Amino acid sequence: MCGIIGYVGTQPALPRLLTGLSRLEYRGYDSAGIAVADDSGICAHKRQGRLSALEKDVKQRTFTQKTGIGHTRWATHGAPDDINAHPHMSFDGRFAVVHNGIIENYAALKAELQQEGVTFRSDTDTEVVAHLLAKHYKGDFRRAVAETVARLNGAYALGILCRDFPHELFAVRRASPLVVGVSADGGYIASDVTALLPFTRRVMLPEEGDMVRVTADGIAVWEESGKLVNRPFEEVTWSAATAEKGDYPHYMLKEMWEQPAALAATLAPHLENDGIRLPELAGFPACGWVGLRRICMVACGSAYHAAMVGKYVVEKWARLPVEVDLASEFRYREQPLDERTLTVVISQSGETADTLAALRKAKRCGSPVLAIVNVTGSTIARESDRVLYTQAGPEVAVATTKGYTTQVAMLFLLGGFLARQRGELTAEAERRLTKDLRELPALTQETLTVATVGAAKWLSQARDVYFIGRGIGYAVALEGALKLKEISYIHAEGYAAGELKHGTISLVEEGTPVVVLGCGEVAPEKTLSNLREVTARGARVLAVTTADLCEIYGEAAEVLTVPTVSPQLSAIPVAVVLQLLAYYTALERGCDIDKPRNLAKSVTVE
Ligand code: F6R
Repeated sequence: MCGIIGYVGTQPALPRLLTGLSRLEYRGYDSAGIAVADDSGICAHKRQGRLSALEKDVKQRTFTQKTGIGHTRWATHGAPDDINAHPHMSFDGRFAVVHNGIIENYAALKAELQQEGVTFRSDTDTEVVAHLLAKHYKGDFRRAVAETVARLNGAYALGILCRDFPHELFAVRRASPLVVGVSADGGYIASDVTALLPFTRRVMLPEEGDMVRVTADGIAVWEESGKLVNRPFEEVTWSAATAEKGDYPHYMLKEMWEQPAALAATLAPHLENDGIRLPELAGFPACGWVGLRRICMVACGSAYHAAMVGKYVVEKWARLPVEVDLASEFRYREQPLDERTLTVVISQSGETADTLAALRKAKRCGSPVLAIVNVTGSTIARESDRVLYTQAGPEVAVATTKGYTTQVAMLFLLGGFLARQRGELTAEAERRLTKDLRELPALTQETLTVATVGAAKWLSQARDVYFIGRGIGYAVALEGALKLKEISYIHAEGYAAGELKHGTISLVEEGTPVVVLGCGEVAPEKTLSNLREVTARGARVLAVTTADLCEIYGEAAEVLTVPTVSPQLSAIPVAVVLQLLAYYTALERGCDIDKPRNLAKSVTVE
């Protein structure tokens, strides 16, 4: 989704803006633009397509301006072209605006401005902000910003330049992410910390409704009421290198290989001697763990698939009913929620709009909300009652890998913890689980060497691929199919193995690849029957299985084996093999692996 960057300081702004924008590319975009300011006015450039097109344009001139804003746009209102690209200028050329989010009342504001004689150049919702600034401006930049945002409904993080104040910029945040950074050479704004890492690790996260002024001398923040406030700065621990590709050809490959370390960082702090510790959950929820009636796990995309694994684990270990919902459905469904239903929201970015809306709904209904989030200080983390942070580090590839497996790992911890709290796990069983969890990172390391390239070669020729499994295997099948389709553009579906014959099997024909997942503990002999059913109809079966089950699935055309691990935990190594398969299939097909078409990393619109 859109990304914003801004700088005011003692150094030329343009190189900083372009570096920041390159760090925001991963969010997904289809045009990019910058505006820089000095005493001679504002100069803006914007271009449809990749950032390199914009860079080519601006590198033909020298820009010495030390104030600027930049933007990567993921089109929502209006086509992805040069005109709709940000920044947008006000009708009098005094203001330049970049925006992430959606102005929900833009149509009414646009009609009002048009009646007053303003001509619009673009189809965007953002342009109304630029014109409103000009309309409200009476010589006071801050006041014009305050009066403008008072008219806006919806979600926005805004970066604003004013020709009359070329040595400052304003930023405002409501329901869209915004980070402010400071360094020896000036101040920065950005949509996420990753964009700031080349310049500074000293950051501040503005609160909802905050208005921020950035100058070379420092940062000033006004809360929504107009009161000047002090917001704390903190040092982020992520280094610039963690968000760089290094020697890897793709971020996705690098991030897959970072999984052992990410899993260790997520698990280790919660494994003490022979047990699981989650001190973050002390005194939570008010009804106590035994008083809980059920859990609703809510998420989108891969995080939803992680929740599916969580359901099997929590129900089995803690004997507590778990419902799993897509956030976009949960928020509009009229389900009973109360103080004895725990809502667990899961999000790598912590900014996914539907998940955030689901969280808010759960809270309104009195349900205690626990978040499993990767990005520290993100909106979902801040608004939840409690947070369990995964330690995946920055994830740049659009297709999640380490984000997903660390979510699954955190759900293992939560499942074990709940089971113990509810008296469903003996001390001996907890000791075994703790030992198994400690071994997961090393086991994942081993899994990363499973030879997937050959199978990927034949998958790359397919039109459709079906992934089937039971229990945990079904949950992982959903993720395997999503991984393959999103980066290789091959149609793929994940199915419960027993369900395929209720319709979808009619699509299986000679040579159709079916990936059978032999993991979890549910009825391997039944899954074997399903393997035979599709083989009999011409399918070419690839089995991905733990070593202890590999004989059972030996009839498959090809078998990929991961180390044996306790059944539930096998979700992680098997998912890692499916990630590798998707990666090498996409590579074989020459796809843009880190930035698949139409996708955005951080989905901040509903
Ligand atoms: C798929 C993928 C997406 C995300 C989904 C939720 O590879 O990355 O499906 O999982 O958009 O994102 P978060 O976890 O940031 O809420």
